[in-house]
Amino acid sequence: MSLIQWNDTLSVGIEEIDKQHIKLIGLINQLNDAIQSGHDQEALAGVLDELVAYTMYHFGTEERLMELYAYTELAPHIERHEQFLIDITTFIERYQERSSPQLAKDLITFLSDWLSNHILRTDKELASFLTQHGYED
Ligand SMILES: [Fe+2]
Ligand SMILES: [Fe+2]
Repeated sequence: MSLIQWNDTLSVGIEEIDKQHIKLIGLINQLNDAIQSGHDQEALAGVLDELVAYTMYHFGTEERLMELYAYTELAPHIERHEQFLIDITTFIERYQERSSPQLAKDLITFLSDWLSNHILRTDKELASFLTQHGYED
């Protein structure tokens, strides 16, 4: 199972976005800890709720910047965010129906892979557009 950890290669060069990505990675790690430490369902549900809420907040930050700077790739980027929210909600519903250690591991792998791929490609493209169009921290 791959677990995402923050490192400089994940930096998009915009402080506000980086800070939020660091927080998201922290929540994925917290979720992993909750899964590892004997399946405390209440703690796990709490972290999952926080993760979804913070993800929505973070997507909102990026999407506001896209609109403000008339980002050319706005539509496909927002579509990726929306698809992620659908996928994660489906995962959580499946988990609530029948929790299993394998499903929990699959969830961590999905979250880690999705977030690192999304940051490295989609968010980096957005960040370089923003800095090229006058965004300053
Ligand atoms: Fe992001
Ligand atoms: Fe994004």
